[in-house]
Amino acid sequence: MEADHDAIPPNLAAIDASAWRELETAAASPQSGFRFLNLCSVDSEARPQARMVVLRRADGPSRVLEFHTDSRSPKWLELSANPNVTILGFSTQTRLQFRLQGMVELHAAGSDLANAAWDRLSTWTRTTYTGGPPGDECASDVIDEAVLPKPADQAEGKPHFGLLIFRARTLDWFELRRQGNRRALLTYDETGALAACRWVNP
Ligand SMILES: Cc1cc2nc3c(=O)[nH]c(=O)nc-3n(C[C@H](O)[C@H](O)[C@H](O)COP(=O)(O)O)c2cc1C
Repeated sequence: MEADHDAIPPNLAAIDASAWRELETAAASPQSGFRFLNLCSVDSEARPQARMVVLRRADGPSRVLEFHTDSRSPKWLELSANPNVTILGFSTQTRLQFRLQGMVELHAAGSDLANAAWDRLSTWTRTTYTGGPPGDECASDVIDEAVLPKPADQAEGKPHFGLLIFRARTLDWFELRRQGNRRALLTYDETGALAACRWVNP
């Protein structure tokens, strides 16, 4: 069903557009407050889990955010079992908090999308996927900064590389202001179109 665009107030449509522009810019800008986001999942015992991740790509029209991770990590297992995700970020520059809710798709090594994302990674980033499974105990000499790490073969990391594609269904937008914080709730339909929005008390 088409969204009723007449019902979207222009000021909220502008806030929505500017929020997604900010996310798109953040994916390419290490300086942006939204370059590092908190990705929150739910584990098999229904406990909330959170961790920082780098925003790799954002696409406003489809409401998509992309992240990279190691498919041996606990988060990958949690998201395989339960793809419901909250993404939380705050930018000190714009004093905005974004809380997005939606679902992730997991694209494991060998899939077309993971292969394409891997091809775009720098050699240094590829080596972060070499080594043992994340969270497993590691030998103490590996931590010793005086011992130079063995040069890793970047190709070793490829089987562990996973791509997460998050599609937002809601954005809880919060602006921190000296006088009068502002907050808006924006809802997207399955195509990514802005379906509803309203101001709410902060
Ligand atoms: C600033 C920052 C950025 C990070 N970016 C990523 C990332 O893009 N992908 C990732 O898997 N882990 C990233 N990490 C590490 C995660 O926060 C986390 O510690 C690790 O992935 C293990 O998470 P898990 O045990 O919940 O699976 C980052 C950590 C920090 C501090």
